Amino acid sequence: MIKVCSRLFLLVAIFSIAYTQLVKGQHQPRQNCQSKCGNFTIEYPFGISTGCHYPGDKSFKITCKKDKPNVRRNIEVKTFDHSGQLRVLLNRSTVCYDEEANIEVNSYRLKLDNFSLPPNNKFTVVGCNAWGLLRTFGVQNHSTGCLSLCDSPPAPHSKCNGAGCCRTDVSIPLDSNRLQTGSERFENMTSVKHFNPCTYAFLVENGMFNFSSKEDLKNLRGVKQFPVVLDWSIGNQTCEQAGSRNICGGNSTCFDSTRGKGYNCKCLDGFEGNPYTSDGCQDINECTTTSSILKHNCSDPKTCRNRDGGFECKCRSGYRLDKTTMSCKRKDFGWAMILLVTTIVFLVILLGISYIKQRLRRRKDTELRQQFFEKNGGGMLIQRLSGAGPSNIDVKIFTEQGMKEATNGYEESRILGQGGQGTVYKGILPDNSIIAIKKARLGDNSQVKQFINEVLVLSQINHRNVVKLLGCCLETEIPLLVYEFINSGTLYDHLHGAIYDSSLTWEHRLRIAIEVAGTLSYLHSSASIPIIHRDVKTANILLDEDLTAKVADFGASRLIPMDKEQLTTMVQGTLGYLDPEYYTTGLLNEKSDVYSFGVVLMELLSGQKALCFERLETSKHLVSYFVSAMKENRLHEIIDRQVMKEDNQREIHEAARVALECTRLMGEERPRMKDVAAVLEALRVKTTKHKWSDQYPKEVEHLLGVQNLSAQGDTSSIGYDSIKNVAILDIEAGR
Ligand SMILES: *[C@@H]1O[C@H](CO)[C@@H](O)[C@H](O)[C@H]1NC(C)=O
Ligand SMILES: *[C@@H]1O[C@H](CO)[C@@H](O)[C@H](O)[C@H]1NC(C)=O
Ligand SMILES: *[C@@H]1O[C@H](CO)[C@@H](O)[C@H](O)[C@H]1NC(C)=O
Ligand SMILES: *[C@@H]1O[C@H](CO)[C@@H](O)[C@H](O)[C@H]1NC(C)=O
Ligand SMILES: *[C@@H]1O[C@H](CO)[C@@H](O)[C@H](O)[C@H]1NC(C)=O
Ligand SMILES: *[C@@H]1O[C@H](CO)[C@@H](O)[C@H](O)[C@H]1NC(C)=O
Ligand SMILES: *[C@@H]1O[C@H](CO)[C@@H](O)[C@H](O)[C@H]1NC(C)=O
Ligand SMILES: *[C@@H]1O[C@H](CO)[C@@H](O)[C@H](O)[C@H]1NC(C)=O
Ligand SMILES: *[C@@H]1O[C@H](CO)[C@@H](O)[C@H](O)[C@H]1NC(C)=O
Repeated sequence: MIKVCSRLFLLVAIFSIAYTQLVKGQHQPRQNCQSKCGNFTIEYPFGISTGCHYPGDKSFKITCKKDKPNVRRNIEVKTFDHSGQLRVLLNRSTVCYDEEANIEVNSYRLKLDNFSLPPNNKFTVVGCNAWGLLRTFGVQNHSTGCLSLCDSPPAPHSKCNGAGCCRTDVSIPLDSNRLQTGSERFENMTSVKHFNPCTYAFLVENGMFNFSSKEDLKNLRGVKQFPVVLDWSIGNQTCEQAGSRNICGGNSTCFDSTRGKGYNCKCLDGFEGNPYTSDGCQDINECTTTSSILKHNCSDPKTCRNRDGGFECKCRSGYRLDKTTMSCKRKDFGWAMILLVTTIVFLVILLGISYIKQRLRRRKDTELRQQFFEKNGGGMLIQRLSGAGPSNIDVKIFTEQGMKEATNGYEESRILGQGGQGTVYKGILPDNSIIAIKKARLGDNSQVKQFINEVLVLSQINHRNVVKLLGCCLETEIPLLVYEFINSGTLYDHLHGAIYDSSLTWEHRLRIAIEVAGTLSYLHSSASIPIIHRDVKTANILLDEDLTAKVADFGASRLIPMDKEQLTTMVQGTLGYLDPEYYTTGLLNEKSDVYSFGVVLMELLSGQKALCFERLETSKHLVSYFVSAMKENRLHEIIDRQVMKEDNQREIHEAARVALECTRLMGEERPRMKDVAAVLEALRVKTTKHKWSDQYPKEVEHLLGVQNLSAQGDTSSIGYDSIKNVAILDIEAGR
């Protein structure tokens, strides 16, 4: 059972394969078909023998008679084209008359079947007083005709327009399958017989018959057949209906026939050949073809390149094809190119301008920096640095750029302090060292020399208890001073608890006092040019992490030239610390610093502020407060509880006396800083205890007598400063 089934299946399969091949194959001509009939080339779907023409339609069968191809056995084919037209020769119909009656009647009948008659044929009647008729038969019958009248021979050059000849259009129903032509004289006119013995009716392709009255009325010039165009098509289905079953070959397309049924094929543009065979359509080589229609239109044949279905005119690089003349033109830049180039040029110019602007600005900046540098005494400084001066000058000149980077563009978070004297920034140098940068204020040019001098001198001070000036930057409008960074606040803060809880023991305080005294002593005498600080106060004494004192803020300090030991200056200093003598006379000497130091020492001892309005009327000033306490012998009352111990009373007492000595009203009576430092130093090394003594003035005099003498000697000469306008240099120490 299964075996039978599988055999059946195999059979069906074989059959179906064979069928498809048959169906496909039936549309193609056999090999070795006769392709010529005389000099007429027969092409598929037409063919002479079976298998060579399109099957199932006798219209495509050609019979070759005496080297002349015929369809329908006896219709001679003149030409044929693939688009579906056939030019054939059709017989005329004739009716001739003798004296009595018709002698020859010949109507013409044609079976159209699968041909049709397109409207580019004309139905023509030649004869006098005759009518002609074209009748078609099909689903609908149709008749048309025309009338020709003439009593005498028409003018020789008359057209076929009703006199001796008439014609009419052919527009017959598409489904017509048979036609008949005929003519007849409708009047028994013997008078026309001598010049028109017969009447004729025939179909002729438009333009293929020119009426010539004399000859044509006589015997139609003996022509018995006229060319007529017939339409043909494949099958009775449209392209859509036929679908892929159409026989159009490669590189061709199918199109519906004008006949109303069936289809035709044509090669694609650029191809030629027989579209009804599978590989009939071949690419036209437009570059080499001799056909003027198919030939390329490149102006220079050498540029022609054949392509499948076309050609191109290939121009050399750098040239482009002009489509109107099909010639190569040198590439010119179009508007887009011009626009692009303009844009680029514009951009380049813009860039250039901005670059130049930047350069100019940079130059201006540089000039400005240079200008500031000069204004701020940079030249002088350089001169002094390079010149024959003391060789231990170690001042660095910082650039504005470096300062900007160190302070992160003068960022607000970097501000350490801001006061009347200026702004102090914390700066970090590229080597990660921390510095304090201070904006100094400068007045007019006359102060420049002074400022530079001070910078130089201060930079020379290399004392461990002086905040070191590292350098300066003069390229800014306001000069910048760069100091070492001290991080533990001022003595003022420590004593008066502004920031820190005071935990300074007596030992600390004594050491700080010794350090400050030593520093001032050094400034007054040891430095290459004596320097008066002028603003010694607890707020100007910085402490580092080891509570080592660092004297800062030389903002008001004056250099004393060697030959002038007293200077007349505008009084400067801080109330409470200000030397009253200097205040009244305006004469500045080193003893002013001694006075201020005395106040600082008192502050260290008492923990009281230099000026305090909460104290009694007479004791607002720390000095008077101290003096009265000493006089009334109640020093212990005013000493800071934090320092007072059993074993240091004598030292405290001694220190208090030194403080009083320092704050004597007359400068001359004050000890020199050097001696003060020595006494304080001595206090520290002393180990023996002393009780409170009330021999105060005597002992102090005894202790400081020598120093007083020397101080008097030193301050005897009085000098005057030539500088009228005193520079206020805010050289405040970095914190
Ligand atoms: C070929 O056909 C033309 C006209 O169609 C005719 O004039 C010519 O004599 C023919 N040549 C041959 C060899 O049959
Ligand atoms: C006309 O064409 C149809 C369809 O192809 C065909 O069946 C028919 O036989 C043709 N007629 C003649 C007379 O060949
Ligand atoms: C046309 O006329 C000729 C004789 O002149 C005749 O042999 C031929 O068969 C006719 N053709 C048709 C299609 O009637
Ligand atoms: C067309 O003419 C033929 C022959 O004269 C006739 O037999 C037929 O009936 C006609 N058909 C129609 C639709 O008139
Ligand atoms: C034409 O006239 C002749 C003689 O007058 C007559 O015998 C003949 O029948 C006529 N023919 C026609 C078609 O009227
Ligand atoms: C008819 O005349 C036109 C111009 O007058 C000419 O082009 C054409 O070839 C002529 N046709 C024939 C068949 O002589
Ligand atoms: C095409 O012709 C065939 C055979 O003559 C016929 O069976 C069929 O109906 C026709 N189809 C159309 C669309 O005319
Ligand atoms: C169409 O034409 C191209 C170029 O001549 C050819 O390569 C291709 O095979 C053709 N296609 C078919 C289906 O014949
Ligand atoms: C040249 O030929 C191509 C294709 O054959 C056509 O598209 C184009 O219009 C022609 N150009 C000119 C200038 O004749």
